[in-house]
Amino acid sequence: MTNTPLFIPVILGTTRQGRQSEYVAKFIVEQIAIRDDVETELIDIRNIPITTKDAGESIKDSLFSATVERADGLIIVAPEYNHGYPGLLKHVLDTCLKEYIHKAVGLCGVSAGPFGGTRVIQNLLPVMRELGLITIFYDLNFGNVQHLFDEHGNLIDKQTYLRRLEQFMNELVWMSTVLRYGRREVSLEKKGSTQVNDTK
Ligand SMILES: Cc1cc2nc3c(=O)[nH]c(=O)nc-3n(C[C@H](O)[C@H](O)[C@H](O)COP(=O)(O)O)c2cc1C
Repeated sequence: MTNTPLFIPVILGTTRQGRQSEYVAKFIVEQIAIRDDVETELIDIRNIPITTKDAGESIKDSLFSATVERADGLIIVAPEYNHGYPGLLKHVLDTCLKEYIHKAVGLCGVSAGPFGGTRVIQNLLPVMRELGLITIFYDLNFGNVQHLFDEHGNLIDKQTYLRRLEQFMNELVWMSTVLRYGRREVSLEKKGSTQVNDTK
């Protein structure tokens, strides 16, 4: 079993001007960077140059694909838009497939309302499953987000969110570690299964 740090990038799932989710994603990246068992980076979907004139793997961005391929797990910061996820987040996620298989994902919901994006998280679950990602059972919720950060983008009640983030990360690290071991050491071949989802 290798002790090399896990690579768990954070996907900022909206391109909206004035997005509050950016503060949330940056807070998570900053905190994960302190850990010595995880490497991270911010993937801002604004910076992924893909066309909207097509969809799916044919419009894959090579850098996004390589980053997801390298990843042991993902964190998706998703704002809640009309109880769902931003269309552009889904558009970006749809450009990869084999890169996700048997990797862990933690979901972070962001909302103006009080429920912390619980509905966007619920709506992302079947998408995650179809992509081959394994969801953890602990989420992060940033409700009433417009009141959570000061004018410099710092969390006002930092201690509360640090505690939640630690629980979330401990679970995500465990799942990512187990799955990394599984991808490397446990063969699927003999059981007649396949590395790529062929149930579409
Ligand atoms: C198109 C759209 C739909 C939204 N729908 C919801 C919603 O269903 N529930 C909610 O709590 N907030 C909703 N909001 C507010 C966002 O959750 C809020 O803007 C929050 O800051 C997170 O999104 P942001 O990162 O774009 O700022 C919506 C915002 C937009 C732009």
